[in-house]
Amino acid sequence: MQAEQTNLERRDPMAELNERDAKLVQWLNEAYAKEAELEVDLTAHIGLTEKPAYKKRLQQHLKETKAHKRQVSSRIKKLGGSPTGGPDLPGAPDAVGELAGKAVAAVKGQVGAARALVTQQAETHLRNAQEELREEHIEIAIYSRIEIFATDVGDRETAQLARSIKRDEERMAKFLSAELGRLTKTVVKAVVPADQRPRARRSKSSRGSSGSGTGKRRTAAKW
Ligand SMILES: [Fe+2]
Repeated sequence: MQAEQTNLERRDPMAELNERDAKLVQWLNEAYAKEAELEVDLTAHIGLTEKPAYKKRLQQHLKETKAHKRQVSSRIKKLGGSPTGGPDLPGAPDAVGELAGKAVAAVKGQVGAARALVTQQAETHLRNAQEELREEHIEIAIYSRIEIFATDVGDRETAQLARSIKRDEERMAKFLSAELGRLTKTVVKAVVPADQRPRARRSKSSRGSSGSGTGKRRTAAKW
């Protein structure tokens, strides 16, 4: 009987997990796949970004993302599971899920690169920041439910891990939210002539020398 159980365990470790741990492993695997995907996304965005402060923050979050992936992987193993790809890849062997995540991210990276060729740099930054912000909120949602579930079933270690990672994601989301504002202002300056903006109108209304509306476009975004 013992030997049979050992064989069964070797065939399918998830079959040996109770309902609580099986659910936690499943959700942690979703987090794991997302971190793997974002590792590639962030690398692509760092390559496209020229603004030093933004680039630096992306690099910092890439380090965090790699650490999160390691921590989640280690927690999955401690619970008796193995890091795989999440809910879309049931029963996928190890690393397949991660590879799938990387493939999706690679396509996104290409789209980002193509975008850089056809649009202004400022708008490229803005759209990439929006993409990053969206992904951070997905991560926050994943770690929130892991934290609440783990707390409810008394798994303090998993709850603590989820809470700590969620804090990093929230900090990044806050930064990106502010960056989105800054980048939008840069796009305004890059694409809208001064006389089409409120300040120009104010100077017109004060009967200043605003001229006839042949405002010059600023061609380069000022970082
Ligand atoms: Fe993140």
